[in-house]
Amino acid sequence: MKILTIETTCDETAAAVVTGELQVLGSVVASQDELHQRFGGVVPEIASRAHLERILPVIDETLRRAGIKLTDLDAVAVANQPGLAGSLLVGLAAAKALCLALNIPLIAVNHLQAHIYACRIAHGADVFPCIGLVVSGGHTSLYRCLGPIDFTPLGGTIDDAAGEAFDKVAAMLGLPYPGGPNIEKAAIAGNPQRYDFPRSLLRDVERLDFSFSGLKTAVRYQIVGQGMPVDSSVLDQQTIADLAASFQEAVIDCLIGKSLQAVDATNLRTLCVAGGVAANGRFRAKLTEACQQADVRLFIPPANLCTDNAVMGAIAVERFKVGLFEDLELDVVPGLVRGAV
Ligand code: KG4
Ligand code: ZN
Repeated sequence: MKILTIETTCDETAAAVVTGELQVLGSVVASQDELHQRFGGVVPEIASRAHLERILPVIDETLRRAGIKLTDLDAVAVANQPGLAGSLLVGLAAAKALCLALNIPLIAVNHLQAHIYACRIAHGADVFPCIGLVVSGGHTSLYRCLGPIDFTPLGGTIDDAAGEAFDKVAAMLGLPYPGGPNIEKAAIAGNPQRYDFPRSLLRDVERLDFSFSGLKTAVRYQIVGQGMPVDSSVLDQQTIADLAASFQEAVIDCLIGKSLQAVDATNLRTLCVAGGVAANGRFRAKLTEACQQADVRLFIPPANLCTDNAVMGAIAVERFKVGLFEDLELDVVPGLVRGAV
C-alpha cells in the first residue's frame, strides 16, 4: 500500500509517500520561513499563495524521490484541520483533484493527531495508549490517546500557544522569526534564574490547561514599563540571553509540569510529545530527566519530525486499515473547537 500525504496547514508545504508498514519512501518539506521573516510571524495570505505555487512541484519531487508514479498510489491523505483556512484549502484541493483523477480514496488527517503519531513513526513500534502533548506555533494541547485514532482532549492553552509565545518574545528581544530556535540559541549564554517569570496555572493540578499570555506580558514589562513601545536596541547581549533563558525555562516548567499532571490524572504512564517546540533541546533534556524520575516512558521524535512535515500524515495508514475514507465534499476545519479533538 502506498499513500501520498499532503500537509499545508500553516507555512510549510509538505508531501510524503508512506507504505502500509510506515516506511517513508519519499518526503519533501518546502519552508516559507524567509517569506514571513520580515513580518515577524506567518501572514496567512502570503502563506496560501506560496502553497499554491509550491504544492505541485513538492508533490512531483516527493514522487520522484519515492521512485513511483501517480498511478502507483492507493490513496491520498491530507491534513484538513486545524490550521489557516487558505493554507488548508490548497492542500485539500490538490488532494481531491488527485483522488478524482486517479479514482482512489481520500483520507482526512487531523494535524494535531498527526503530530503525536510522529512518535509512533519515529519509535517504530506501538506507543499507545499514551498521553499526547502537541506543542507548536498554533497549539498547546494535551490528549488521552487510547489508540492511533482514539484521542480525547484533556486540556490546552487558554490564550497563546507556547510556540506563539516564543515567536512574540523573540520579536521583543530583537531576534528573528521563527522565534523558538533563536530564543533557544540566545538562551545558551543566559541565566535561566535571573528573572522569576510566572508559571501560570502550574499549581492548579485540577486543571490540565496552559496560559502563556501573562508570561509574555511579564517579559515585556521587564524590558519596558507599561504602555511603552518595546525597543530591543536598549538591551545588552547578556540581558537578552538572560531574558531568553528565563522565559524559556518558565515555558518548559509549565509544559513538563502539566504533562506529568496529565500522566498522574489518567495513570497512563507513557508520554508522546511533538510539535515545533518539542525540537527545543533544553525542553527535551529537562523532560527526559523529569520522565526518568517519574518513571514515565517518553517518546519525542527527532527535530525534523517535530516541526511540520508530511511524514506524520502516515496516521492515514490507520484510517485506511479500518476503511475511514472521505467523499469529495470534505471541507477544511480551520479552528480547533474547544472540547473536540
Ligand atoms: O509544529 P510547527 O512547525 O508548526 C505549527 O503547527 O505551528 O511549530 C512551529 C513553532 C513556532 O512557533 C516555532 O517558533 C516553534 O515551533 N519552534 C521552537 C523551536 N523550533 C521551532 N520553539 C522552541 N524551540 C525550538 N527549537
Ligand atoms: Zn504543526
